[in-house]
Amino acid sequence: MQKRYVLALDQGTTSSRAVIFDSLSGNIAGIKNLPLQQFYPRPGWVEHDADDIFRDQMSAINGAIKMAGINTESIACIGITNQRETVVVWDRNTGKPVHRAIVWQCRRSSEICDSLKTAGLRDKIKSKTGLVIDAYFSGTKIKWILDHVEGAREKAQRGELLAGTIDSWLIWNLTGGRKHITDYSNASRTMLYNINDLKWDDELLGELGIPACMLPEVVSSSGVCAYTHEKILGERIPISGIAGDQHASLFGQACFKRGDAKNTYGTGCFILMNTGKTPVVSKNNLITTIAWGIDSEVEYALEGSVFNAGAAIQWLKDELGIIKTAHESDIEAKKVPDTGGVYVVPAFTGLGAPYWDMYARGTILGLTRGTNKRHIIRATLESIAYQCRDVLEAMKLDSGIELNALKVDGGVSASNFLMQFQADVLNISVQRPVIRETTALGSAFLAGLGVGIWTSKEEIEQAWNLDKAYMPGENKKYYDSLYLRWKKAVEKSMKWDI
Ligand code: G3P
Repeated sequence: MQKRYVLALDQGTTSSRAVIFDSLSGNIAGIKNLPLQQFYPRPGWVEHDADDIFRDQMSAINGAIKMAGINTESIACIGITNQRETVVVWDRNTGKPVHRAIVWQCRRSSEICDSLKTAGLRDKIKSKTGLVIDAYFSGTKIKWILDHVEGAREKAQRGELLAGTIDSWLIWNLTGGRKHITDYSNASRTMLYNINDLKWDDELLGELGIPACMLPEVVSSSGVCAYTHEKILGERIPISGIAGDQHASLFGQACFKRGDAKNTYGTGCFILMNTGKTPVVSKNNLITTIAWGIDSEVEYALEGSVFNAGAAIQWLKDELGIIKTAHESDIEAKKVPDTGGVYVVPAFTGLGAPYWDMYARGTILGLTRGTNKRHIIRATLESIAYQCRDVLEAMKLDSGIELNALKVDGGVSASNFLMQFQADVLNISVQRPVIRETTALGSAFLAGLGVGIWTSKEEIEQAWNLDKAYMPGENKKYYDSLYLRWKKAVEKSMKWDI
């Protein structure tokens, strides 16, 4: 059978997914998604079992292959995309993790971050890594593991432990322990990688006491970098695409020109704007990240990460029990004309861009005797749109670019109520593509480009098709006034858990 299928592995925060794209038709031939168990050992802490991740990812691959009705021989290449920043430390001899994976949302290294700030490293870290000091990024999580797992630092110094983001963990396992690699985009999320020199930064490694020998080799986001071990999938299949999930979705949305921007509504919201070949240093609390690096040519993006978006809808369902399915939030929100003055700030794990407050916590404001569950549901959905406006306002200031459209994807982009409200609050058009598995698609494009299935970005651009554009309504003043009150609500949620 002709090798025409591209297998994309999309290992996310709440699920592990495998998607098989038919490169001839551009359609999805097979897909399998497995939910991932979350561990919350203490308030504000989040962990995953790294062995579960690999096991689930393998089951997802097998499920997708079965659904597509193909065999591994017809898979041309594999693209890997992953939840970013989440970090695993494992023993290179046994392949066993020394601790559960510490998830990007986890706040346990806040105090380490505080000490870096007190040591006056804020500007240095920003100029070297493009990042603000926050527990979100991987570096302080690795330090935490080395500080808290007995004997870990000594083993790491002896070269016995490896550290990596989830892409590295999957590739290590898929190659039977032969390759310890990551790509430019994932490296740029660690707070250990110099995004100007394109090297792990010895000074920052020294500050955090992380031995360089733990870290993966950094490779191109597109191009063959490894082969799966025969024992794993019965075949040596090239792995030819690696990117953090938000970078993959920027690629899948064909945001190739300077000023092209996308927002993925997943667990959080991740807004990235392509800024081309030169990094734009943010003066408005955004971060500078490597969009992708292809054949050592690196492109940069400005990013604003909102920590809780889809997670807030899950909270309505799982913790408050006021909706039974995520879709119900859309229906219930429309049953009231507005929130009745209620604001929900879903700062469950602190606030990300542009506030960066590790100690903010979730807040509900404006309750009256007449407030009902629909107001709370609607206010929760609206909070997602306000948080995105916070980020886009900062992006406009940093880049000097006035956006006229925002491409959207991710599970929550299915909400018609939210997408229309987003267009109204931003006063720009919000565009949703036909294929909403944009992260997996971007990963497939990177992998396919790496083996010559697609030959150029222009060809990929042709494959992007619009499903629906949401246009802003006339009442800009009204939405601006709602947004102003949101800013007040955010202030009330900040610095709560100190
Ligand atoms: O930075 C974290 C992000 O990559 C997680 O994305 O889609 O798994 O929530 P997602």
